[in-house]
Amino acid sequence: MNTTEIVESTIEFVRETLGDAEAGHDWFHTQRVFRNALLLAKDEDVDILVVSLGALLHDIADAKFHDGDESIGPRMAKEFLNSIGVESEIIDKVCFIIEEISFKNSIGRKKKTDLPLELQVVQDADRLDALGAIGVARAFQYGGHKNRKIYDPDISPNLKMDKETYKKSEGPTINHFYEKLLLLKDRMNTQTGKRIATQRHEFLLSYLEQFYAEWNGER
Ligand code: ADP
Ligand code: NI
Repeated sequence: MNTTEIVESTIEFVRETLGDAEAGHDWFHTQRVFRNALLLAKDEDVDILVVSLGALLHDIADAKFHDGDESIGPRMAKEFLNSIGVESEIIDKVCFIIEEISFKNSIGRKKKTDLPLELQVVQDADRLDALGAIGVARAFQYGGHKNRKIYDPDISPNLKMDKETYKKSEGPTINHFYEKLLLLKDRMNTQTGKRIATQRHEFLLSYLEQFYAEWNGER
């Protein structure tokens, strides 16, 4: 298979596999991350095949929906890529991206510059989809899926999360803005990612301002 065929058949595989996934992590999330990743990759010296496959396969089996088992995603990706004859060197790079991409895994890690550029691009692309208008939609979708409150003025956000508390966090969805979404802008890896994240961050701030005004009956 040539590169285009590899990407096409990966798209088919992911669409089928994510067929009935929860809306915040479904095929359309993956499609947006794929598009974001290609956009960011234009400004970076990266292997486009690794970026494409990493973006397409990054949520193939999110640990959150598999009892916390983080090995399923990389394993499924490896089996699939093997089955269509992708070189093992590429497969290893793609699996590394899937293992490392999550926000949880990056909590507490200091030096991001050591990470491969392809991973940095896919991670930025995934983070952009947690910001802006789509980010708001996904947060409330996820909160609804977990039957969480949208907001409760008596429950403050936990601003000192480590990996374990983050996993167990069950607060109202508005708290998630402070616990994760508003922190993403300063964690972006690429220049283009930072620029787009800054715009989407501003949108979140104005969304919150409007939200509280409406909550308090001020507008
Ligand atoms: P990552 O893949 O980086 O670990 P997640 O899978 O945790 O990211 O998040 C995916 C989407 O679900 C994001 O848009 C995120 O904002 C949303 N989400 C995750 N946890 C929560 C939560 N506790 N409340 C609301 N939205 C959440
Ligand atoms: Ni994702």
